[in-house]
Amino acid sequence: MNLSVHRRATALAALTALAVSGLAGTTASATPPAAPSAPSGALAAPDIPVANVKQHLTDLQSIATANGGNRAHGRTGYKASIDFVKAKLDAAGYTTTVTQFTYNGTTGYNLIADWPGGDPNQIVMAGSHLDSVSSGAGINDNGSGSAAVLEIALAVARANYQPNKHLRFGWWGAEELGLIGSNRYVASLPTAERAKISGYLNFDMIGSPNPGYFVYDDDPTIEQTFKDYFAGIGVPTEIETEGDGRSDHASFKNAGIPVGGLFTGASRVKTSAQVQKWGGTAAAFDRCYHSSCDNISNINDTALDRNSDAAAHAVWTLSGATTPPTGPVFENAADVSIPDNGAAVTSTVTVSGVAGNAPATLKVGVDIIHTWRGDLVVDLVAPDGSVYNLKPFSSGDSADNVQTTYTVNASTEVANGAWKLRVQDKAAQDTGYINNFKLTF
Ligand code: TRP
Ligand code: ZN
Ligand code: CA
Repeated sequence: MNLSVHRRATALAALTALAVSGLAGTTASATPPAAPSAPSGALAAPDIPVANVKQHLTDLQSIATANGGNRAHGRTGYKASIDFVKAKLDAAGYTTTVTQFTYNGTTGYNLIADWPGGDPNQIVMAGSHLDSVSSGAGINDNGSGSAAVLEIALAVARANYQPNKHLRFGWWGAEELGLIGSNRYVASLPTAERAKISGYLNFDMIGSPNPGYFVYDDDPTIEQTFKDYFAGIGVPTEIETEGDGRSDHASFKNAGIPVGGLFTGASRVKTSAQVQKWGGTAAAFDRCYHSSCDNISNINDTALDRNSDAAAHAVWTLSGATTPPTGPVFENAADVSIPDNGAAVTSTVTVSGVAGNAPATLKVGVDIIHTWRGDLVVDLVAPDGSVYNLKPFSSGDSADNVQTTYTVNASTEVANGAWKLRVQDKAAQDTGYINNFKLTF
């Protein structure tokens, strides 16, 4: 490196200052971590009674049977389905709105249900398409999602859940004709209203008779919330790949709204590896997809139960907190000197008592005293060894010290364990030390 007089002078001045103030070389032990506190605003979702979800499916089957065997767009069975869901929501205290649209020369309907209260500028929305294809009753596709969303809405009312965010539920028309109802709904929202939706959760086919457990690969926070639920009950999941954009979440995603969802599989065939993982047979996830046998017998109750509970978990969790939780703080104030142009050194913070994964907004407090911070590469190393670069080598940056708080999406990392701040000085002349390393969960 090309050493300048300025650089040398800066280094000497800083080292003198350190010696005088007596900060250098201190070897205080790590301060004990603050007692873990419960995450703010997080109330556990209730168990969703699968018998209630099943009863809604039985009712949707009866509606189809009484209306020529289907609940398709433009047929009487569709409007009867809307009326059925709306009546339950009205009785539970929801503010419901039915909007009409025209497609293929016939009238379609969306149903929106708002739960009073919560921050109107932060809306968590869950939805499902209520229409079937014309060849059958559409009990898995998509009575299953529609019945689960209905029962979750009713569970919110039973619990009188008052989350910080506003809750809204939606049932879409004419999905089977190309996501028509959800597209019309999103198109009807002014830009300012779209921006208020912090997340849209989609449930389309969640009771397939030969089920897989698929989570949409979309917004990372929503995806992780679902995965956390399934991890907690010991059910492995896979990323949904049978058709990204093949359901109503695409309407929201195209408008820039964060989305996520669950799916148990349609006509694709379960692989032998998936049979090993989930049981069932190496046949279609739903052999009755879009056919007349998609009736009340075409449901796996276990899949319906697990997905209903996972959906409720996400609705509760994602609406519960308005601000990233400021949970427990763990800190290491011991000084660690950083050898000039030398090997990496670390300061360790051992996290305990924090359930589950680290947050998507893990705060990493870094306090490094150094006379030319451009020399430094700074990383956060998770307990499993995953590396998050906080600051790259930036040789021209001659300023002193790295004293800042970084936000790291650490949501794929288990919280508990030994986290390291790793610092390497990669250029000669200037030196310093780690003064403090702090993690806020
Ligand atoms: N209703 C969807 C359709 O008919 C079903 C579907 C297929 C789906 N693949 C999907 C839903 C993937 C969600 C995700 O196309
Ligand atoms: Zn569907
Ligand atoms: Ca140096």
